[in-house]
Amino acid sequence: MRTHLPSRKVIAVLTAALLATGMAACGNSDTGDNGGKGDDGKITLGFSQVGAESAWRTANTTSVKESATAAGIELKFDDAQQKQENQIKAIRNFIQQKVDVIAFSPVVESGWDTVLKEAKDAKIPVILTDRAVDSADKSLYKTFLGSDFVKEGRSAGEWLVEQKKAATGPVNIVELQGTTGSAPANDRKKGFAEAIAANPNLKIIASQSGDFTRAGGKQVMEQFLKANPKIDVLFAHNDDMGLGALEAITAAGKVPGKDITIITVDAVKDGMQALADGKFNFIAECSPLLGPQLMDLVKKVHNGEEVPARIETQETTFTQEQAKEALPNRKY
Ligand code: AHR
Repeated sequence: MRTHLPSRKVIAVLTAALLATGMAACGNSDTGDNGGKGDDGKITLGFSQVGAESAWRTANTTSVKESATAAGIELKFDDAQQKQENQIKAIRNFIQQKVDVIAFSPVVESGWDTVLKEAKDAKIPVILTDRAVDSADKSLYKTFLGSDFVKEGRSAGEWLVEQKKAATGPVNIVELQGTTGSAPANDRKKGFAEAIAANPNLKIIASQSGDFTRAGGKQVMEQFLKANPKIDVLFAHNDDMGLGALEAITAAGKVPGKDITIITVDAVKDGMQALADGKFNFIAECSPLLGPQLMDLVKKVHNGEEVPARIETQETTFTQEQAKEALPNRKY
């Protein structure tokens, strides 16, 4: 009996076909390329977080993670440790993984155009959350969700103007700025300066970055106290720096909230406690609970729906009395 063996040509074609199938399968699992969907068809969101520099940031991360789970969105989360280059790397990874939507909170305002253009070319919509970028080309992102930082700085300044309206001599102010080049540092500084311009007695005698951390706030406040014998007011761009500064002020033998008036931004639990205890004098609120609104936007931009160019968070301010009332129900 004669057996029909396959010709060399047929074997070559079959081998090539098998190899191609195998390579395609490897490609899927290596790159996670599943057509932009989670394994179960969920929307995939790549989120690049600034870092974990403050209690505000921790609350924001929790809000994003919990809301993604609640909304049935698959979250790829990256912590950039306060470094722009890490955020750019994370965004490029999200593009490679073909996520459906990218959201990020830019550590600084400038230098995003190239990577945002890469996302746009890959047809992946981008949402800015919490902090903004200064890109002239607004088509590089779909929307911004977050606070009016200028307004926060202005509220802090207006409160101070009212408190010091009877002052006849100079009122010396020191300012602990947030991360250099970040939107909240730039905008809070601007809003505060605009408001205190109403009273020429109010003077910023020193202003330096404490990078939004407690350690930074303490260290810079120590320098301020050494260099300036008369400090009347501290404006800290967040609670954490203000809380760090409390240690420096107490160590210098001064009474926070009395010898030095302290104004901060955020209203996280520890900040509100310091305010209720009389160590802080005033806080302009900045809400970190952006998760639910963000997930709503993710779904909308994924479905190609129109969204407003800017969505601002509702915020308030707190005096010492108001902090005592609000503290028991504070969520973060
Ligand atoms: O971008 C929001 C700011 O970043 C918060 O005020 C501050 O606490 C955080 O680190």
